[in-house]
Amino acid sequence: MNENERIQELRKLLKQYSYEYYTLDRPTVPDSEYDMLFRELQDLEAKHPELYDPDSPTQRVGNEILSEFKKITHERPMLSLGDVFSYDELREWSKKITDVYGEVEYCAEYKIDGLAMSLIYEDGLFKQAVTRGDGITGEDVSSNVRTIQSVPMSIPYKQRYDIRGEVYMPKSSFNRVNRERRENGEEEFANPRNAAAGSIRQLDSRICASRGLDGFWYHVPDDVNSDTHYGSLEYARKLGFIVNENTRLFNSIEEVISFIEDTAKIRHDLPYEIDGMVIKVNSYALQRELGFTSRIPKWAIAYKFPAEEVRTKVEDIFITVGRTGKCTPNAKLTPVKVAGTTVSFATLHNEDNIKDKDIRIGDTVIVRKAGDIIPEVVRAIKENRDGSQVRFTFPEHCPVCGGKLYRFEDEAAHYCVNTECKARLVYSIAHFTERNAMNIDGLGEKRVEAFLNEGLLNSFEDIYKLHNRREDILQMEKFGQKSFDNLIEAIENSKANSVERLINGLGIRQVGEKAARILAAHFKNMDAFMNASLEELSEIKDIGPITAEYIREFFNEASNREMINQLKLFGVNMNYIDTSLNTDSIFNGKTVVLTGTLERFSRNEATALLENLGAHVSGSVSKKTDYVIYGTEAGSKLDKARELGVATMDESEFEKLI
Ligand code: IVH
Repeated sequence: MNENERIQELRKLLKQYSYEYYTLDRPTVPDSEYDMLFRELQDLEAKHPELYDPDSPTQRVGNEILSEFKKITHERPMLSLGDVFSYDELREWSKKITDVYGEVEYCAEYKIDGLAMSLIYEDGLFKQAVTRGDGITGEDVSSNVRTIQSVPMSIPYKQRYDIRGEVYMPKSSFNRVNRERRENGEEEFANPRNAAAGSIRQLDSRICASRGLDGFWYHVPDDVNSDTHYGSLEYARKLGFIVNENTRLFNSIEEVISFIEDTAKIRHDLPYEIDGMVIKVNSYALQRELGFTSRIPKWAIAYKFPAEEVRTKVEDIFITVGRTGKCTPNAKLTPVKVAGTTVSFATLHNEDNIKDKDIRIGDTVIVRKAGDIIPEVVRAIKENRDGSQVRFTFPEHCPVCGGKLYRFEDEAAHYCVNTECKARLVYSIAHFTERNAMNIDGLGEKRVEAFLNEGLLNSFEDIYKLHNRREDILQMEKFGQKSFDNLIEAIENSKANSVERLINGLGIRQVGEKAARILAAHFKNMDAFMNASLEELSEIKDIGPITAEYIREFFNEASNREMINQLKLFGVNMNYIDTSLNTDSIFNGKTVVLTGTLERFSRNEATALLENLGAHVSGSVSKKTDYVIYGTEAGSKLDKARELGVATMDESEFEKLI
């Protein structure tokens, strides 16, 4: 068998295995075997780019990055459904039909909590996936939907085929994704629906691929392959689509209701979220007779489950401090089962929420899960009070560091602004070292955390003492001499940064990269910025009174002022270096390496000068290096530059160019 034939064979085999695994949920080979064949195919395809096939299983890992999604007008509009919230309303809907047509057959399905999607196939091949959008026009999210393994890339049907359904995030993926986000300090998704929608809107399809989405397919508009809705679903299943297996036919609305009741009992045990049931008239002939009102079909209706609410007692109220310093009040509850899990804590969101709902310690309360995920206290049952209940007063000090808490105008939350508060330390140091801030390569969140645990880092200042901790650091796992040297060099280089990087790195609320630049350009140095009055700050264009207040509160904190002084003593530059005029230098956009001892400049000064001219100053020479500037006693770096044919210049040439 030649390589071409092997590629075709592997594609066929892997398609079959992944259909069995993802669509039928009945794997026939161990994962390791699948992975091995997959890698073999990847290698062969890399060797034979001429055999590229968009339909190959390797094309589903996400390999497209778009700048925007194309707008697509649906050939047939994507409709929404009318809602009912009680069985009586459901009976009324059915009565309107049976009054005219007598008993009819209903198809009852789970209402999947995800986002609606239309899949288009032409000539048996997947052509496009389009979101619902406003129902008329949606967005082409094909590159993301392609990464959903259970969505077929080819079907044994040659006519144009438009099948609609729901893309959703299984609970297992949701839990995993949120755990990862928590670990990375990113905001968690409130529920699987938001998570699915957020993933489908990613322009980088690799991100979507990593999110573990899936789909259920439940509607084929104007299907020519069957006379009934249920028949269409069976046909779709034969074509390779996942149709939810809990789809049932009934001859009366009372039978439908008892199916709904049964489902309500088990819905929290399902591996995906459902927020109700959809009931459809099964016969297409009857559907056509019934038709539509405005944008809603009369032949289908959505029954929404009520949010499950239970009673329990608030045993205590306590504050947790998030990684950004945000303080959230929580209720400690007498454990109670709600929406499938035992709940012992519920968020109280913020001070106003507690006051508005008048929730007191000792109260009997109603609890439910927002979006069926995050437990919250709905209200207190005031009739149950016996006088032992205690009002909660929001603390004035951070429960973790004791620093003063601030509640800013127009914000409901309290914040701890002490950058050295343990609760926010990893987060704030990692922000300080970020590329757009002090740009200290090799000191990302994971490493900050490890250093913190070793007692090597407790503040921004400590970063500039790390060179003294060589022995301790080299003892750590995954830390070699080379990474240590690189880290110390990156820290050293950061001292030369123009001050807007430091301002950004401080992590003052609402002062990100852009505001930091405006402030640095305005005040020119740290002292002027740190001592500016509220009025002075508010008057700056694009800063505004709220940000001004955040800045003032930050510098009113004595420990923050002391931190700036310490950084100054360590040699961190506190001045603004205006780069706006210098973009026509030959160094602009180039990668430059300094080596040897320069006579007229310190390493920091030379770095600052080069960065000022738009250069990236790197520590090692490679093919990507544009210039090597050398002083006396230049060694291996200069040799390597010459070997690679990289342009070199000595100090005096460099001086002339600047
Ligand atoms: S049928 C014309 N069936 O619910 C019929 N919709 O509230 C189109 N949904 O926009 C929809 N599960 O996103 C249908 N089994 C199901 C569904 C379902 C979830 C969603 C869908 C729709 C929304 C309406």
